[in-house]
Amino acid sequence: MTAITLRRPDDLHLHLRDGESMRSVLPFTAARFARALVMPNLRPPVTGTPQALAYRQRILDALPAGATFEPLMTLYLTDRTDPAEVQRAKASGCVLGFKLYPAGATTHSDAGVTDIRKVDAVLSRMEEQDLVLQVHGEVTDPNVDVFDREARFIDEVLAPLAARHPRLRIVFEHITTRAAAQFVLGSRPGIAATVTPQHLLMNRNAIFAGGVRPHHYCLPVLKRETDREALLTVATGGDSRFFLGTDSAPHARGAKEAACGCAGIFSAHGAIELYAEAFEAAGALPRLEAFASEHGADFYRLPRNEGRITLVRQSWEVPRSYAFGAEELVPLRAGESIGWRLSEG
Ligand code: DOR
Ligand code: ZN
Repeated sequence: MTAITLRRPDDLHLHLRDGESMRSVLPFTAARFARALVMPNLRPPVTGTPQALAYRQRILDALPAGATFEPLMTLYLTDRTDPAEVQRAKASGCVLGFKLYPAGATTHSDAGVTDIRKVDAVLSRMEEQDLVLQVHGEVTDPNVDVFDREARFIDEVLAPLAARHPRLRIVFEHITTRAAAQFVLGSRPGIAATVTPQHLLMNRNAIFAGGVRPHHYCLPVLKRETDREALLTVATGGDSRFFLGTDSAPHARGAKEAACGCAGIFSAHGAIELYAEAFEAAGALPRLEAFASEHGADFYRLPRNEGRITLVRQSWEVPRSYAFGAEELVPLRAGESIGWRLSEG
């Protein structure tokens, strides 16, 4: 196959940041995706509906002329989220759910939830109002091995939570392990997962290839090859509970190339192209469209997009860096190539 045309896809997990940084990265996503679910881990976090609507408007105002792109919003859940916020979010029509960050799990998560029981009333209200819970699924106990934190979260938090709130719809975000894939496969209706391009294309060796590679560090961290294979199997297998969410997470070069580099991989410049590589390697290119453009929309009960994009099987070299506000960022595959190209127009 030398070209593939898809219904325009949705990125159901994206970090856009704000201000000039957002202006630098937004065009990459808007060129490829019709919609994206924009993560609320700004500083301060987007905890209320008015803030989410204002953030949404800043994104719309930052769009390049002629771009058609719809930001979908989620609120940052905290120990103090008022259950009444659920109705405000629902009534806005623009907020699809709440994002659960266990406090301390990742970038800008210090305002997150310290004990899941503290948000039970909010979760019950979400269940009633049918808003979706997006979950960063890692325990935060520093004594738990970093490679085991997702699996432990399933047993200690997610499975009991899904049982306590049997009608709550949950997206297990950026799954990284075979255990997570199996949990979703074996779970009740209403539980789905996003899968990133990096977790389909790389295993943890990529963090240590010839030296430490800060641009391959994200959270949850890349896992073993058997985990990558399990993710590739479910993502490319046609099961509607698995869908596209890049977790593209831009950081300035200096924040990554540091004694304590922060977590996040920027992939928006070539996101759908990278997924095409992964699906092609699995012999599953014909199933890319369902994963990228149908399963997520259907789960969120959004209409499938009407437009189309075309990808051409043509290799291109990724720049060593892109502008990021006044700074620069290092994209995934910097100075290397991606085997599929987005056809312009
Ligand atoms: O690698 C990550 N980066 N994981 C997250 O959960 C947050 C994200 C970010 O905001 O940079
Ligand atoms: Zn994320």
